[in-house]
Amino acid sequence: HRHFDCRMSWFPEDEHRSTNRFTKFCANVLKCGAIPKHVAFIMDGNRRFARKSSLERQEGHIKGFEKLTETLEWCLDLGITEVTVYAFSIENFKRSKEEVSGLMELARQKFEKLLEEKKMIQKYGVCIRVLGDIDLLPNDVKRAVAEAVNFSKHNNRAILNVCFAYTSRHEISNAIKEMALGVEEGFLRPSDVSEELLEKCLYTGKSPNPELLIRTSGEVRLSDFLLWQTTFSVLSFVKVLWPEFSVWHLFAAVLHYQRNYEQIQKTKQQNQETVEERQRESDHQCVLEDYKNCSDLESKIQLYAKQREQRIQTFLNHLDEKHSKYLDSILGV
Ligand code: FPP
Ligand code: MG
Repeated sequence: HRHFDCRMSWFPEDEHRSTNRFTKFCANVLKCGAIPKHVAFIMDGNRRFARKSSLERQEGHIKGFEKLTETLEWCLDLGITEVTVYAFSIENFKRSKEEVSGLMELARQKFEKLLEEKKMIQKYGVCIRVLGDIDLLPNDVKRAVAEAVNFSKHNNRAILNVCFAYTSRHEISNAIKEMALGVEEGFLRPSDVSEELLEKCLYTGKSPNPELLIRTSGEVRLSDFLLWQTTFSVLSFVKVLWPEFSVWHLFAAVLHYQRNYEQIQKTKQQNQETVEERQRESDHQCVLEDYKNCSDLESKIQLYAKQREQRIQTFLNHLDEKHSKYLDSILGV
């Protein structure tokens, strides 16, 4: 059995690798089917696990972190290249002072540890993003987070999104605020606001939506996690507590995904058509408003669509810059 300690790194050493030949064989069988590119996890049940195993509460969270590093490895081995985890919800700030500071301390330690492991991050090509309202975090955690994010931002072989000080409603209202500002500052026209644009303004704007979401501990809720992004995701609720999650639970969830694959592809396709149709309608409407009576409507619509896409790209670049500047300000650059 693997031995864990609290200095545990993000990269388990080779001799601790938990995949044997049989699990590798099963992984290869699974890989004959569709493998989700992006999987999200609600890592629930750390405190129940601690209670059950007569451990301190904080020990349960530490075990939870260790399980996360193991899970990331299983995902990479399967060909899942993006993982998003719910590490700390804005609601979690309401927990006892002691527990909140314990979790903050754990996060600070682990993000600092990540910086000691730069070589490994480069070797795996992992990009780490922290999604959430970073402003709500204590300064030392903010700094560690900003450094890790900044350091790994150009990697693209695998992506780990850590949702920290996150809720989905907060993320969605933030996206709406950004779009409203974009209109006020002249980047956007009100008619540019669409489902598609909102999606790009979410913290996950650069990622494809997760095809599979896994929640442990038997709770059958989303708890304000990725509400927008999981519209077409397969949901998998697993009974075990997060520290008990095993590679077999992951395989079972992927199999569950594969059984639903066809149906979901069809629904996604239909939705994509609706979105495109709606956009065409909107562009048409805008052209009619701009030129009350015009000939050659079709080419005007095409021109309008091109200009709209440019406006949106400029706006999104502006959002990116704003975010980079914010990280720089934390780092005191
Ligand atoms: C849910 O279990 C777990 C959390 C609120 C914390 C999850 C955090 C980690 C696994 C560590 C991640 C750290 C980094 C740096 C990514 P719970 O506390 O709700 O337990 P319960 O449901 O049994 O009460
Ligand atoms: Mg819980």
